[in-house]
Amino acid sequence: MQSALAVLLCLSTILFVRAAQRVDLPTIPLSPNDASQILDRSLASLSIEFSYLPSFGGNASDPNTLTQELMQRLVERTGVGPDIRPGGITVDSTQFSPNASALELDESSSGGIWKTTYGPAYYESLAVFPNSSKIVIDVNLGNNTVQFARDEIQAAVKYVGWDRIRALELGNEPDHFAGGSRPSTWASSDYTAQFLGWTSVLSRNLSLPKDIFQSGSFAEDPTSQAPMTTVSTIEEGIDTTGVIKIFSQHTYQYSTCDPARDAIATLPNLINHQNITAYLDLWKPQIAAARSAGKEFVVGEYSSVSCSGKQNVTDTFGQALWLADTVLYGASLNISRMYLHQGATLVLQSNQQANSPGFSWYDLWYPVETDRYGAPRASPSFVAYLLITEAVGSSGESQISLIPAPSPQLAVYAIWDQSVLSRIAVLNLGIRNVTASDEEKEATTVSLDLSEYVREGSNVTVKRMTAPGLDSKDSSAVTWAGQSYADGIASGDEVVETLHGGLLTVQGSEGVLVRL
Ligand SMILES: *[C@@H]1O[C@H](CO)[C@@H](O)[C@H](O)[C@H]1NC(C)=O
Ligand SMILES: *[C@@H]1O[C@H](CO)[C@@H](O)[C@H](O)[C@H]1NC(C)=O
Ligand SMILES: *[C@@H]1O[C@H](CO)[C@@H](O)[C@H](O)[C@H]1NC(C)=O
Ligand SMILES: *[C@@H]1O[C@H](CO)[C@@H](O)[C@H](O)[C@H]1NC(C)=O
Ligand SMILES: *[C@@H]1O[C@H](CO)[C@@H](O)[C@H](O)[C@H]1NC(C)=O
Ligand SMILES: *[C@@H]1O[C@H](CO)[C@@H](O)[C@H](O)[C@H]1NC(C)=O
Ligand SMILES: *[C@@H]1O[C@H](CO)[C@@H](O)[C@H](O)[C@H]1NC(C)=O
Ligand SMILES: *[C@@H]1O[C@H](CO)[C@@H](O)[C@H](O)[C@H]1NC(C)=O
Ligand SMILES: *[C@@H]1O[C@H](CO)[C@@H](O)[C@H](O)[C@H]1NC(C)=O
Ligand SMILES: *[C@@H]1O[C@H](CO)[C@@H](O)[C@H](O)[C@H]1NC(C)=O
Repeated sequence: MQSALAVLLCLSTILFVRAAQRVDLPTIPLSPNDASQILDRSLASLSIEFSYLPSFGGNASDPNTLTQELMQRLVERTGVGPDIRPGGITVDSTQFSPNASALELDESSSGGIWKTTYGPAYYESLAVFPNSSKIVIDVNLGNNTVQFARDEIQAAVKYVGWDRIRALELGNEPDHFAGGSRPSTWASSDYTAQFLGWTSVLSRNLSLPKDIFQSGSFAEDPTSQAPMTTVSTIEEGIDTTGVIKIFSQHTYQYSTCDPARDAIATLPNLINHQNITAYLDLWKPQIAAARSAGKEFVVGEYSSVSCSGKQNVTDTFGQALWLADTVLYGASLNISRMYLHQGATLVLQSNQQANSPGFSWYDLWYPVETDRYGAPRASPSFVAYLLITEAVGSSGESQISLIPAPSPQLAVYAIWDQSVLSRIAVLNLGIRNVTASDEEKEATTVSLDLSEYVREGSNVTVKRMTAPGLDSKDSSAVTWAGQSYADGIASGDEVVETLHGGLLTVQGSEGVLVRL
């Protein structure tokens, strides 16, 4: 059986090698000249909608084993767990009560969450995440009551502990507060003033460590129309009291919040290297501003399509390719960590959105059984976090650069580990759908000559992230190094190829990681 599979693999590889389009790369420097900062091993992190954390984590008597397994797959690759940020729109209507049970939701008739009350048992949900995972504590700013934030931070310090807390964050997307929890005139300077006032009161009242706050978490893309950004708040003096550790903004490239944006949230638009890089390039001034202030810049919440994703788009293998390119490119721009949002449709997100209640179509995994998604399982995009974490590696001394490729849909990233060129990630974003004909498959297959990076006597290996097609929705058919991860555990025989002769072949809608 295994040898038959090997023969098949060989045959298909030969077929595509013959037909593949040869792409010549510019020379990749053997040392990291002008590469990124040292990559944080928690680059690929997670944000989980506050009121759904118990669905993802479970509790002490009933921990979510799928979540536990999936997190271990990441720890195995980098040596640390991803950061976890229980946050999102629901945080701005939360209240901690020492007498409450884990989670008490006040919901509208259509399932919108209007208020979340939580008690000490809420934190049991964090126990399934690795002990090495840092937690971002997001607290209620929306209610405009500093006592709520104070009680929530105090509870987090008590039940999570400083050894696990990455940072404290006030509210979620405060640039969307105008006309809601704040007057319609609510502007950047109002946010900055409130941030300074609250952080000063909270720091004093709770004797907080010096620089512990993550500011921002703005929703809007930082165009000239953005109501508030890292740049505007720094200009207003937000970093003058020394409480800020990290600046955060959110990125959602597409949206189903309204029909006009829903119409362009298609797989061909998403899975496009030019679109992905042009979008993240908008954040360059924000990253630069944070870094000149000596602080980290993170994308504290992100996914491809806001308002909870889109069926047949963000629940496909295409989302894995989008994720891999987005996170590796973000890392090359010196974004320290990116927190992929695990959400649920909240009804109150927009009054003309396309989605109804349920877990989001973009979630990396579905932690519990639901009518919409069926059994708990990893989604077809989970493998992207395996590719990314293996690209980052476990040394804590790797750096990355995008290598310009002559083919527009080919994304090539070089990774130097301890200043030595060590890995190359190649993402072929050419579209190969499940129904593609052999001609279409051939037309999107590329081959790259990597022989000049193959050291004498070294064993260059290749792991492949692949699926029957871009639009594939079956997690058990989506593989990383030949194995699928639907139940969080590697299934099938591992396939690690050896790069003979230095020639690498990559099909359309496929990603590979080459280890030199
Ligand atoms: C990222 O940071 C490194 C040093 O930490 C710097 O050399 C590089 O120019 C920065 N890259 C960008 C795109 O700013
Ligand atoms: C733990 O979670 C299970 C499953 O959701 C639930 O039935 C049980 O009541 C919870 N236990 C506690 C102590 O909250
Ligand atoms: C919690 O319960 C205790 C005693 O049952 C009560 O004194 C206290 O006021 C309650 N606290 C809150 C925040 O409801
Ligand atoms: C975290 O550490 C505690 C105490 O050492 C241990 O009981 C628990 O199993 C660990 N959790 C994980 C997810 O490794
Ligand atoms: C603040 O919380 C209180 C108590 O839950 C609620 O009545 C009030 O409407 C909230 N205000 C805002 C602005 O969210
Ligand atoms: C902090 O605030 C709480 C509640 O508002 C108050 O009871 C307490 O005395 C304050 N502590 C300090 C040290 O300011
Ligand atoms: C995405 O890229 C394609 C091809 O470059 C372009 O036609 C399209 O307008 C882009 N879509 C968006 C929404 O930027
Ligand atoms: C998604 O595809 C399925 C068939 O695979 C179809 O039944 C469903 O209507 C599609 N949904 C949308 C929103 O296009
Ligand atoms: C691939 O499938 C997507 C989604 O169904 C569709 O939008 C796209 O046009 C198809 N592309 C090709 C090249 O067949
Ligand atoms: C190369 O490495 C792979 C994966 O570690 C291993 O399976 C294979 O046997 C090695 N090949 C040689 C020739 O050393």
